[in-house]
Amino acid sequence: MDLPIPNWPELLLATICFLFMHYINQRNKPIVSWPLLGMLPSLAINAHCIFEYLTRALNRAHGTFSFLGPALTNFEFILTCDPKNIKHIVKTNFSNYGKGKDFKEIFDDVFGDGIFVAESESWRIQRKMSHAHVQSKDFRTFLATTTQDLTDSGLLPLLGRAARQGSQVDLQDLLIRLTFDSTCTSILGRKAGCLSPGLPVIPFSKAIDDGLEAIFFRHVVPRSWWKLMKRLEIGWEKRMLHARHVIDEFVKEQIAITKSELESKGSSEDLMTSYMSSNRSLSNTFLRDTMVNFLFAGRDASGVALSWFFWLIFENPHTEAKILEELRNVLGGRTSIPLEDLHRLVYLHAALYETLRLYPPVPIDQKAAVHNDILPDGTMVKAGTKIFYSIYSMARMEWIWGKDCREFRPERWIGEGGELKPDLEFKFMSFNAGPRSCLGQDMAFTQMKIAVATILANFQVVVVEGQNVSPKTSVILLNKNGLKVTIKERPLQA
Ligand code: HEM
Repeated sequence: MDLPIPNWPELLLATICFLFMHYINQRNKPIVSWPLLGMLPSLAINAHCIFEYLTRALNRAHGTFSFLGPALTNFEFILTCDPKNIKHIVKTNFSNYGKGKDFKEIFDDVFGDGIFVAESESWRIQRKMSHAHVQSKDFRTFLATTTQDLTDSGLLPLLGRAARQGSQVDLQDLLIRLTFDSTCTSILGRKAGCLSPGLPVIPFSKAIDDGLEAIFFRHVVPRSWWKLMKRLEIGWEKRMLHARHVIDEFVKEQIAITKSELESKGSSEDLMTSYMSSNRSLSNTFLRDTMVNFLFAGRDASGVALSWFFWLIFENPHTEAKILEELRNVLGGRTSIPLEDLHRLVYLHAALYETLRLYPPVPIDQKAAVHNDILPDGTMVKAGTKIFYSIYSMARMEWIWGKDCREFRPERWIGEGGELKPDLEFKFMSFNAGPRSCLGQDMAFTQMKIAVATILANFQVVVVEGQNVSPKTSVILLNKNGLKVTIKERPLQA
């Protein structure tokens, strides 16, 4: 018997009908999964607003779902924003959740064996060493002085000029330049010159951008795809190759300079000098990896958080008024704030917490299971499975933060006695939590408070109307188009 051979229009129509019916069946699922391609097309179509898209998906899934990639690619993971699951992963069952093999591979080019990618004993040793250096009084004083100097001599003159000329500036760019210069000086002992006249492109800073871009894409495409691109040296992988070269050369030069100055300097103010003088036998590779990890960690996060902060207080003038009132009381006529008074800025601290809750600089974090496990919400986890937790989405879940979860309300961080209220339930993950929590949290608050206090003591920041303020799809939660502002002189009256 002869079977009828369908012609192309019939086949096309049948395929369209099939896909349409499939879509109708799937549309209430957290993410539509397509035959063979899995959920990747849905992710790709929504890549421009990925964080909001995943937030909607997590809402539909009541906090946790499994992502399935294209067939035969092994591109699968669990996505969650449930604080119970996250507490289990980062604290209760910490030993079962490492960074995973993929993580090391994705970050290897730039991070080497540094603290971000290190596991087990290597991580423990590095964590102990870094903790001692970063928490030391000398280092914290050096960081505060450095940030104050850079704000006074680099940022304020730029803002003053913008105020006199009535010109617009990209505040996000300026704040990232400030915090990167401050971090570079604290880590390497030398500023990168980001706030120099003309706001030059700093090759090292550009290399970090390119590295982060490649790292992001490596997360969202199957492993075999980016591996092939790396071998062919094309696209973002080509830029990664160049970035690695620039980073290696820059840090190599800094290590050589610090080594040559060690005898004459002898101090332990910046991190690299402090490491070298406490242990002269540290290898160049160890120093390179340690410093690069710290520079990556400290380059964007505080600057990005500050940029979202200035946008949020502009949108919420009653909050800005309260911050100004607190600054007037604490500064008492001074135009900058000494390190020992930073703890008195309680409302500002709460406003920064609230900024970091709504706009976490690291919007999504990840772990990988060592052994089979079951998460507190009943999700089965097979050994080797990657688990991503969306810190951005956590802030937008009514069942976590209440009906006003999307509102900017610093008051939620202040207790009845006016003290800062810590999060004890793993609802606030912007600095991670548990044994691998951020080592730079105090450092970041020192930088951010000094920058805010000094800027607001001298100027009013006015956000230019009509611009599209929304997060960029990236490893760091940058504002897609920067933040255009104008500046007005406004000495703070005591
Ligand atoms: C607002 C600013 C910052 C935010 C939101 C932030 C956030 C985070 C997060 C989410 C992690 C966990 C990453 C992971 O799981 O792999 C982390 C780890 C870390 N951060 Fe930060 N960070 C900030 C500033 C800094 C600064 C200024 C430094 C120091 C230069 C720093 C140093 C580190 C280090 C060394 C780790 C690795 C800790 C470990 O694995 O044991 N961070 N940070």
